[in-house]
Amino acid sequence: MKSFDVVVIGAGPGGYVAAIRAAQLGLSTACIDEWKGADGKPALGGTCTNVGCIPSKALLQSSENYEAAGQHFADHGVKVKGVELDLKTMLGRKDKMVKGSNDGVLYLFKKNKVTFFHGRGSFKSSAEIQVGNETLTAKHVIVATGSNPRALPGADFDEKLILSNTGALALPEVPKRLGVIGAGIIGLEMGSVWRRLGSDVTILEALPAFLGIADETIAREAARIFARQGLKIELGVSIAKVSTARNSVSIQYKNSSGESKAFECDRLIVSIGRVANTEGLNAEGIGLKTERGMIVVDGDCRTSVPNVWAIGDVVRGPMLAHKAEEEGVAVAERIAGQKPHVNFNTIPSVIYTSPEVAWVGQTEQQLKAAGVEYQVGTFPFSANARARALGDTAGLVKFLSKKQTDEILGVHIIGPMAGELIAEAVVAMEFGGAAEDIGMISHAHPSLSEAMKEAALAVDKRALNI
Ligand code: FAD
Ligand code: NAI
Repeated sequence: MKSFDVVVIGAGPGGYVAAIRAAQLGLSTACIDEWKGADGKPALGGTCTNVGCIPSKALLQSSENYEAAGQHFADHGVKVKGVELDLKTMLGRKDKMVKGSNDGVLYLFKKNKVTFFHGRGSFKSSAEIQVGNETLTAKHVIVATGSNPRALPGADFDEKLILSNTGALALPEVPKRLGVIGAGIIGLEMGSVWRRLGSDVTILEALPAFLGIADETIAREAARIFARQGLKIELGVSIAKVSTARNSVSIQYKNSSGESKAFECDRLIVSIGRVANTEGLNAEGIGLKTERGMIVVDGDCRTSVPNVWAIGDVVRGPMLAHKAEEEGVAVAERIAGQKPHVNFNTIPSVIYTSPEVAWVGQTEQQLKAAGVEYQVGTFPFSANARARALGDTAGLVKFLSKKQTDEILGVHIIGPMAGELIAEAVVAMEFGGAAEDIGMISHAHPSLSEAMKEAALAVDKRALNI
């Protein structure tokens, strides 16, 4: 029997970061993870590293380069003849990035003296975890077991014709006709990758409004831009049946007017959300409360069982790697007797399409619904010199601030590098800043960040370049 102060189950971004922070704080720490790479060896980093953030961003960048070389370089007077797709190399580069990240986590464990166990962790009691033939005892357990893709009823993933994120990141050939069910973040990112590589992409979405989680101005702009790029998105559908033939998939559905429709494609990505993963954990056996599959926690990630904590995708809140990391660090610090705080209101969201979509804080529709008095400032990238130099002028920045105090309540961006620009808004909000504060700060010229300054100035109708 091996004893530790802290045992973490799961080495995704939540779990591995929690383990490192616990070890940094002088707690003897073990981390258990069951993920296997193609070589059967441990592949640390969870969904994010293996079949999520890292490989998807690799393919988004590669496919963007391919499209730029074929279609956009000419606008700059750069003629490229015979642009060819080498999908095998593109996928190989992605796999190399993943492997590098897997090994990076293992290196960090060694560096920080986190003991790693490869296998499935299962509770024997709230203080004993079985992994393989070993039993680990722990003063504290952190559950960070992540999530799995949600399947459509009657259409199980086979990862050949009906694909989850795993199959969507590893298609050996570009499908001629790609269907996607769910116009959420995965649908838009993976739909963009394969469209750029040559697929005819159709996305079927159940909700009547496009990208309802985003601010409605940004969602409207995104719908316009993605349609212009060639993504066909049909809203308000209800899927009736999915059936597969040898090399194709047919989908029967009702459109928004209630008419029966059929649609055939070569491959189908189903991206309709993810479900918390507690498989094989024996969560119920130790009395861990769950709700819709998620482990129930309080604001500090305490579960219903003393000394058992849970973080990341397996608990409430947005399923984002950086949210899991913040929770992991905070829990490790709480175990060590510190008093950390996670501000859930300033966790940014980014969709890595081109242009990118990024936001933090509240949307205009949320403020309206809550009866908050607010003011708005917007600035288009078409009036930003750096965006014009890049040839990337679609989109805008939108600031929302409190009417009485000008405190920033939300910032919403669609445009080049939105995922980087949003960091300035996160800092400002974390410090309780006003839109005027951003407007008064010097921003380098010419830079995309000037669009942030101008949108902030626009709140008080003081934008200079529009
Ligand atoms: P996970 O990363 O799911 O890790 C859980 C780990 O626990 C896994 O390794 C699993 O094998 C292991 N495990 C589970 N049960 C056991 C057990 N009983 N014993 C041992 N090990 C176990 N988020 C972003 O912020 N940015 C992005 O760009 C982004 N892109 C994404 C793209 C895709 C295609 C997908 C699917 C997701 C993306 N996400 C992104 C979401 C992100 O991947 C998750 O929010 C994040 O991985 C959650 O981290 P986690 O540590 O909670 O769980
Ligand atoms: P999602 O929640 O983003 O989107 C799912 C979409 O499917 C929604 O629009 C929903 O209305 C729709 N839908 C649900 N049931 C449907 C049905 N039966 N028919 C048609 N449409 C249906 O989920 P997604 O895209 O699967 O991604 C899962 C999670 O992974 C995201 O919520 C996000 O937290 C994370 N992620 C984050 C990324 C990032 O940060 N850039 C990238 C990819 C994923």
